[in-house]
Amino acid sequence: MSKIKIAVLISGGGSNLQALIDSIEKGDIAAEIKLVISNKVDAYGLTRASNHHIKTVVLDRHTYPNLEERDSKLLEILQKEEIDLVVLAGYLAILPSSFIETFSNRIINIHPSLLPSFGGKGYYGLRVHEEVIKRGVKVTGATVHFVNEETDGGPIILQESVGVEFEDTAEAIQKKVLKIEHQLLPLAVKLFAEGKIEVVGNRVKLL
Ligand code: GAR
Repeated sequence: MSKIKIAVLISGGGSNLQALIDSIEKGDIAAEIKLVISNKVDAYGLTRASNHHIKTVVLDRHTYPNLEERDSKLLEILQKEEIDLVVLAGYLAILPSSFIETFSNRIINIHPSLLPSFGGKGYYGLRVHEEVIKRGVKVTGATVHFVNEETDGGPIILQESVGVEFEDTAEAIQKKVLKIEHQLLPLAVKLFAEGKIEVVGNRVKLL
């Protein structure tokens, strides 16, 4: 089976990136991570990538002060590397619509809640879990979805839930949710690589 070429975009620790690297190295997914791009120069995920000899690129406001130039550089790099799939693994920036159009149904994002709950603008990282506690929901989870124009509104590929206990802190919920994220993201990439995802309107049919 031929390998799909992946670019992973990160902003932080990169534990989801690590889960993906591990699955690929185990031979579970016919894919190659061609490069890791970060919009933060100090993102630990960059070290994780280097540890596995994966090319890294930093695109931030220091390397490219002009946002338009930064966005077109991103597109240029991905096209040059002939990337098949873009994985947002804790990438906390909004992608330009031209980019989303070019990679239509070829960008996937992992989000730390059961979308459409606790999603959209302003819902990222620990803040999601803080809102989960405030609202008092008994169940939360993780979602992998395709990225479209609407923030966190694209077709849902996979979801999995975890229970919320009254005593849980945001950090405790984050820990439980990350554990399932590390299973869901590699699985979604595997399904994509095997051509087992069909998008029907704003829904996904798993083949
Ligand atoms: C993950 O929990 C991911 O779901 C979240 O950021 C974290 C990154 O962790 N993403 C979002 O909140 C996107 N809206 P990681 O860097 O250890 O993979």
